[in-house]
Amino acid sequence: MTWAVVPAAGRGTRFGAETPKQYLMLAGRPVIEHSLRAVLDHDDVDGVVVALAADDHDWPGWRDIGGKPVITCIGGGERADSVLAGLQALPASVSDDQWVLVHDAARPCLRRQDLARLMAVGQGDPVGALLAAPVRDTLKRADQAGRSAATEPREWLWRALTPQLFRRGGLTRALLAALGAGLKVTDEAMAMERIGLKPCLVEGSEDNLKITTPADLALAEFLLARGG
Ligand code: CTP
Ligand code: MG
Repeated sequence: MTWAVVPAAGRGTRFGAETPKQYLMLAGRPVIEHSLRAVLDHDDVDGVVVALAADDHDWPGWRDIGGKPVITCIGGGERADSVLAGLQALPASVSDDQWVLVHDAARPCLRRQDLARLMAVGQGDPVGALLAAPVRDTLKRADQAGRSAATEPREWLWRALTPQLFRRGGLTRALLAALGAGLKVTDEAMAMERIGLKPCLVEGSEDNLKITTPADLALAEFLLARGG
């Protein structure tokens, strides 16, 4: 049994629209509907918990999608708080040993083959796994004056994407420890790394972008129309 947790309690400040970006229309459906359908599409995914903002007025009220249960909970001030709230709202039948997929509501272009690969690799890994993309640009380290002081080797650098797959109990403990230490935890793998674990990097498509600005929404529209 695998469940998904989808943090959807953000406000979309950088996007700058009145409506949070996860509720904007994309190819005829709200962004979040694409993200939810993409994770629920996998046969091993049994249901999803969606973490919503306390004052969310846009959630369409789904109780199931394609026959799989959709449960909601109230998220928190930062993404990691929302993920933790989602983990805590999973049904009691999801044991600490079971796998949980965490996927951003703002990533509507997840491809079926990427999810299939992540699930296959992650479920066979002692720690868990995340989708990630190798860094392509030349990376510069700036000095305090904003001048290019050095070029960083990009050979070992990856951009973390979602979904990320970890066991319910281990991820909950890792997030609690990192948040308790006052860290800004920007993905699940970071919390695992902090306790000495090394999640497996599974190369995913660049199409799986996170909608951050209006240009990303236009690009997502194009990518979905083009298909995987
Ligand atoms: N998220 C969340 N709870 C928060 C902050 C973010 O559940 N307190 C979710 C967002 O809804 C999104 C995902 O985490 O699905 C990734 O966050 P991000 O892209 O940063 O979205 P926002 O926080 O909404 O955008 P911004 O940072 O521009 O305000
Ligand atoms: Mg944010």
